Amino acid sequence: MSTQAPLVVGRPVLGSLQDLRDDTLGAYLRARRNHGDVVRFSAGPPGLRASLYAVFSAEGVQQILGTEASNFRKENDVYSEIRESIGNGLLTSQDTEYIRQRRMIQPLFTRRRVDAYASVVHGEAGATADRWATASGNTIDVSHEMAEFALRSVTRILFGADIDTAVDVVRRNFPVIGESVLRRGVAPIRIPRTWPTPANRRTAAAQQELYAICDRIIAERTTAEAGDADDMITLLIQARDEDGSALDPDAIRDQVLVFLLAGHETTATALAFGLHLLACHPEAQEKARAEVDSVLGGRAAGAADLDELPYLTRVFKEAMRLYPSVAIMGRRTVADTEIGGYHIPAGSDVYVSPWVTQRHPDYWENPDAFDPDRFAPELEASRPRYAWFPFGGGPRACIGQYFAMLEGVIGLATFVQRYEFGAVESEIPVELGMTLRASGPAHVRLTPRESSGAPAGEGRA
Ligand code: HEM
Repeated sequence: MSTQAPLVVGRPVLGSLQDLRDDTLGAYLRARRNHGDVVRFSAGPPGLRASLYAVFSAEGVQQILGTEASNFRKENDVYSEIRESIGNGLLTSQDTEYIRQRRMIQPLFTRRRVDAYASVVHGEAGATADRWATASGNTIDVSHEMAEFALRSVTRILFGADIDTAVDVVRRNFPVIGESVLRRGVAPIRIPRTWPTPANRRTAAAQQELYAICDRIIAERTTAEAGDADDMITLLIQARDEDGSALDPDAIRDQVLVFLLAGHETTATALAFGLHLLACHPEAQEKARAEVDSVLGGRAAGAADLDELPYLTRVFKEAMRLYPSVAIMGRRTVADTEIGGYHIPAGSDVYVSPWVTQRHPDYWENPDAFDPDRFAPELEASRPRYAWFPFGGGPRACIGQYFAMLEGVIGLATFVQRYEFGAVESEIPVELGMTLRASGPAHVRLTPRESSGAPAGEGRA
């Protein structure tokens, strides 16, 4: 007979609700330290009190995302809110609908396909580095800069020549959608979306504007003359299932919005912390730069260079270990199960957290320290598969992970080629929005490199 997981004792009326709301990551870290690898929280007002479980061991994560994935469904209030806001694309769909979508979309993310985006990424990185030449006080906010770089990269890949109109619409409207998903996704009681409250109106207007630009560009690309465009919208239009059927325009729009949601802030966070960590660790920065200079000798980084830049790859992985963009992932159980000897009943909300597992002392020595060499091949091979899982795992693993690695490594290579970075703040406080992010500006000082050999604007696409 398995036993109940230890309960994290919360406050008298609302249980752990406030603690989880105010500082989920802190509450999880404390729970692991005080109670172990499987814990139970009880949260909510009397009458609406819910139990939820958090699992921190690599073995438990493997069970949830990998071996028993079919018992852990993507069903909770946050997923419902995403479906309501941007449609039921690859991130949230399930069962036969999901299998059909993944089958049709996977070919857009093969290594060969993604490698073709390297010049777009390098072009945007080069343009970003050009802009820094006029940075006031030679200081930039890496949070803001990497958000802009990642937004422009993914938008150019999706929308091709229409990037400038699309970037503006996405930049203005996505934060409104994200804020609404988050606010409503964790609220014990939700006001119907149809009520004309200011927040509901704002969200509806943002959704309309995003839908309108996607629909317009999808319609334009569907015409015969657009047949040779190679942006991702065109590839989605051309995608065919085994029986020859295509995605309809609404389904294409759902995927475009999912790629924007899943592929923009995530990469931005990883890059911003990657740059900040390099700024704080001059010796690692020098090692990364020496590698970049020796491999590239001043020329543009391309997809073929990725395997030749192992140290920079380790830096990016270590940044994602310490600052995983998706810091928690939630599922709901279909049937009773057992994790680490504890009973988890059917219908339970269960969470895993790269933030906690990737700082778990059982897998990581001196877990809070920045040390890219943890990702040397022999050390990586010695750890359980799910000690590091910034891209999730199992059947629902991130479809964009190779693209994210390419963007991360090419981005960092371009930046260290052009500038030296110095830290202004030694520590950047974080907050949990739709993704993990810096809660304020993250300043970094720039010194242009004289001898980088990469002339200004050379990378522009
Ligand atoms: C550093 C960057 C990124 C990180 C850390 C990241 C992380 C993740 C994680 C953890 C999941 C799984 C979520 C879960 O199991 O609940 C996921 C799924 C997904 N990601 Fe990413 N992601 C990144 C970049 C991207 C990019 C660039 C794209 C697309 C352009 C993308 C598209 C997706 C999609 C479509 C899914 C759903 C896949 C499925 O369920 O089949 N991601 N991502």
